[in-house]
Amino acid sequence: MRAIRVSWTETALPGSGSPLPGGGSVTTEWLPIAQVRGDFAANPADYLAHYLAPAELPVLTRITVPKRQVEWLAGRVAAKRLVCLALERAGVPVPPSELAVLGGKPGGRAGKPRLSARSPDLTGPLGRHISDLSLAHTLRFAVCALAQGGRVGVDVEPLRDFGPALRRTVFTDHETALAQRAFRAFDTGHRGTALWVVKEALLKAYGIGFAHGWGTARLRAADDTAGVFDVSFPADADPGHHVAVRYGRLTDHIFAIASVAPRPREGHQQKGQLRAWD
Ligand SMILES: CC(C)(COP(=O)(O)OP(=O)(O)OC[C@H]1O[C@@H](n2cnc3c(N)ncnc32)[C@H](O)[C@@H]1OP(=O)(O)O)[C@@H](O)C(=O)NCCC(=O)NCCS
Repeated sequence: MRAIRVSWTETALPGSGSPLPGGGSVTTEWLPIAQVRGDFAANPADYLAHYLAPAELPVLTRITVPKRQVEWLAGRVAAKRLVCLALERAGVPVPPSELAVLGGKPGGRAGKPRLSARSPDLTGPLGRHISDLSLAHTLRFAVCALAQGGRVGVDVEPLRDFGPALRRTVFTDHETALAQRAFRAFDTGHRGTALWVVKEALLKAYGIGFAHGWGTARLRAADDTAGVFDVSFPADADPGHHVAVRYGRLTDHIFAIASVAPRPREGHQQKGQLRAWD
């Protein structure tokens, strides 16, 4: 377990390319699942040929639940819209089907999503312009957060009351009490959901998810500007330098975007380095 200090701010949905003081930025793309489902159903073959790389097609095919298939697809569409726009702005126009977003675990379905390109010529531009991405989906939305500097994690959940049984399963009583103090922007019944999305965003930025069960990250202390989490990291993990979360409301959902800045090198400032949201 390592203690991680996380600063947090309640915000409106961040706009495109929210600048970071260290020179990096985080951009998000939100897609209504219904829109992706409709566009895909209208012409499945063309839609897949436009958006998916050959390496992604078998992963999509192996998803047997249609609802999950569309959610997975929507995540790729959101990611590729952002990546293609970032590359186009950098003078490297690339069609979406040249890029793949696959989970880091064997089979490409599970684990932190990783961006790769079919052509080795694109490896350099991808590395220069994109440092990390993260995905989340609900029945209504798919979201991708793209970092240009540092690591990023995103989560979104419908606003709902966790209820006592679920709350006791996923949080300690101490965490439940801290969530009440920390997330006052929400009704008391929704503050547990706020803690949940903040944790998920954080654990996605680190690429570990709830690998060690619900106790992978435990909130130890909190006020309305920051919290301290005890996190179970793999032995070789880098907890980063500055960890910040933006969270807020999107219609009847709660979102959170976590950014982890790299440790500054001794004596000089790295170009494009992400240091903090605020
Ligand atoms: C990662 C995790 C938090 C995702 O949460 P979720 O509510 O299932 O789904 P969300 O919509 O929020 O996010 C899904 C996205 O998370 C991303 N993701 C999955 N594992 C990830 C990881 N280790 N790190 C970062 N991102 C991850 C994927 O991109 C996925 O989207 P995709 O399937 O379209 O590629 C969760 O699945 C997890 O912790 N899994 C690992 C261990 C586990 O299953 N534990 C069970 C509880 S004890």
